[in-house]
Amino acid sequence: MLSDRSPIFAAVLAAGKGTRMRSNRAKVLHTICGVPMVNYAIAALKPLAPERTLVVVGHQADEVRAVLPSGAEPVLQREQNGTGDAVRVALEEIEEGEGTLLVVNGDGPLISDATLARLVERHLEAGVGATVLVAELADATGLGRVMEDAGVVRIVEERDATEAERGVRLVNLGLYAFELSEIRRALSLIGSENDQGEVYLTDALSIIGERSRAVTCLLENLEEANLVNDRAHLAKAEEIVRRRILDAHMRAGVTVRDPVSTHIEASVEIGRDTVILPGTFLRGGTKIGSDCVIGPSADLLDTTVEDGALVEHSVGRGAVVGAGASVGPYAYLRPGTVLGGASKVGAYCEVKNTTVGAKSKVPHLSYVGDAQIGEGANLGAGTITANYDGKDKHRTEIGDGVFTGINTNLIAPVKIGEGAYLGAGSVVNKNVPAGKLVVGMPARVIRDAPTNSKKESGGETDVDDGRRDGTEA
Ligand code: UD1
Ligand code: CA
Repeated sequence: MLSDRSPIFAAVLAAGKGTRMRSNRAKVLHTICGVPMVNYAIAALKPLAPERTLVVVGHQADEVRAVLPSGAEPVLQREQNGTGDAVRVALEEIEEGEGTLLVVNGDGPLISDATLARLVERHLEAGVGATVLVAELADATGLGRVMEDAGVVRIVEERDATEAERGVRLVNLGLYAFELSEIRRALSLIGSENDQGEVYLTDALSIIGERSRAVTCLLENLEEANLVNDRAHLAKAEEIVRRRILDAHMRAGVTVRDPVSTHIEASVEIGRDTVILPGTFLRGGTKIGSDCVIGPSADLLDTTVEDGALVEHSVGRGAVVGAGASVGPYAYLRPGTVLGGASKVGAYCEVKNTTVGAKSKVPHLSYVGDAQIGEGANLGAGTITANYDGKDKHRTEIGDGVFTGINTNLIAPVKIGEGAYLGAGSVVNKNVPAGKLVVGMPARVIRDAPTNSKKESGGETDVDDGRRDGTEA
């Protein structure tokens, strides 16, 4: 609608270091609920459909470029000479002509698309050269103070302000709509005579005001005024975004028992009637189906949980939990784990790069790595795959309906045929045919212990084929 009247170009300022973050990482790369800060401002611009979204990068430019969404165009500001200089860099990319330049600081992650739209609308309706978004804050510390008088807006940085100006509580939020020709002209006139020796974008306001009027636009929802300059601000912004994410899930039919202790990143999907219990972290590309119970204290990253599954006091990393499966308490599912429907991985089990077939159970105290388990198998407490010989990883195949007794050691590579039964304590290093019962391998003396035995033989076991067996470190 607005674009009929005048094309909108957007410039996101993201080249600064963010000194007050006291970080080795550029400020705009710090994440909020899993998303780099700069991407919030870019997302808020999207509904306005700008002709172009230019992101001014500089400090750690490569790293910032790497996180930008498609459609955002990075432009390099070689030296960070101030916000005015950053806008100059963006303007070099835009052809001369009519239009509106919407400038957004990259460190305002809570700004909404509605506010940006209102800013542009007010700017166009007023027919002025510049419009700046302002807010009346109880604590204006660190922000530019705004003085408005008869079509002239003057912004003074706190460090350059007089005692009286510091008393002003109307602040600059770093969001502006400019007539392209006006901002071009103003920036060509601005010097850097201020406490920081930088080119201040804010100085453009008074220059434009004197020629073609500048006005303010008052922010309605003060929550959006949470700009991030240090880690305390970061935590505050994250708290608000986190709550917004939780509210959206709750409105979509997810029960969140304790929002205060539940952390769900922006990218996570959850089906209806799923219950999220306290102390749960759902991160990255995690997807949860419907009717699941997740938590208490589940920590899932890039993990898929299908409908009706339970995950209690457990950690998942790149795992898939099938429909109706049960995980935990205290299970660790590592990348490549795929649990079939109605299967179970129980207390103190670690599973890695392993498929557990439908209805199979790994209920207690097991390590299963690089294995393929068929359907309806049951691994006794303490069943371990020795998948690693110190050099290479080897696979274990366990057929449908296999039963392993407690403390079974499976020395990979090894295949256990369908329906085989492994007696308690057996150490299996040869393939077992389907339907057979195997037992044994009691300990026996094979040779003298190594001389400096105490230190070296610690957790290792030698067996008579001379190979060191053990689980992966
Ligand atoms: C700026 C405003 C201040 C306002 C505040 C709101 C100026 C001079 N002051 O101050 O009035 O209250 O924002 O947050 O504009 N940036 C660049 N290149 C540069 C310098 C900065 O891209 O050379 C980017 C930063 O990455 C950041 C944004 O511009 O995203 C604002 O820079 P920052 O240094 O945080 O400005 P403030 O001092 O907070
Ligand atoms: Ca700032």
